[in-house]
Amino acid sequence: MNARRFPTWPVRYVAEPAHPLLHPVLASRWSPTAFDGVATVNLDEVDSLLEAARWSPSAGNSQPWAFIVGRRGEPEHHRLTRHLTESSQAWAPSAGLLIANLSHRLIENTDWEFSEFSTYDLGQAVAHMTFQAQFLGLSVRQFRAFDRAGLTAEFDVPPHWEVTTMSAIGRVPTAVGPHATTTRTTRQRRPTSDVRWRQRTVGDR
Ligand SMILES: Cc1cc2nc3c(=O)[nH]c(=O)nc-3n(C[C@H](O)[C@H](O)[C@H](O)COP(=O)(O)O)c2cc1C
Repeated sequence: MNARRFPTWPVRYVAEPAHPLLHPVLASRWSPTAFDGVATVNLDEVDSLLEAARWSPSAGNSQPWAFIVGRRGEPEHHRLTRHLTESSQAWAPSAGLLIANLSHRLIENTDWEFSEFSTYDLGQAVAHMTFQAQFLGLSVRQFRAFDRAGLTAEFDVPPHWEVTTMSAIGRVPTAVGPHATTTRTTRQRRPTSDVRWRQRTVGDR
């Protein structure tokens, strides 16, 4: 394994207004739709992303996740690219790394749930991977815009597993910031006062 290589701090972008105690990896993360189409993600970086997912918590330590990994130039990257929808086709192929995120939904050959929390746990593992990527100076856009049936057939995924989401991971050109995404979604967030659950009283809607 190569010597430890740390990312290109200082962080280029920080969410506004950033809470002063928020970790820079969290404050600087956003989901780009523009990647450097030449930059690569190296094997050590890929290993560290999988390691981050591996150490994610899961219900009963069930670890209900698996990942189909394709770096640009590898056959898997091309095979993953084939099943993108029109919207993700516009930006995901330029990412140096594509990953399909699989959850273990059923016990093999039954219709019994493998774990009540399999998609929850997969999401958490992908979140860990996302923050590890950010730490390495890579950016991630998770997405659902792919042909699930097509990808399932392409990689012979058995029925007790589900291709739940994909991640496009790569470097972002310096001039690109979080407001340059090509989608119609905004980055506005509900305030913490709204996120904090409060007991409703009679008369509240
Ligand atoms: C489960 C999941 C599915 C998503 N699907 C898509 C998608 O199909 N297409 C897309 O452009 N972005 C997709 N996104 C990215 C979100 O739109 C994005 O995270 C959100 O707008 C918040 O922006 P931010 O990540 O920059 O904070 C998805 C994200 C998640 C977690």
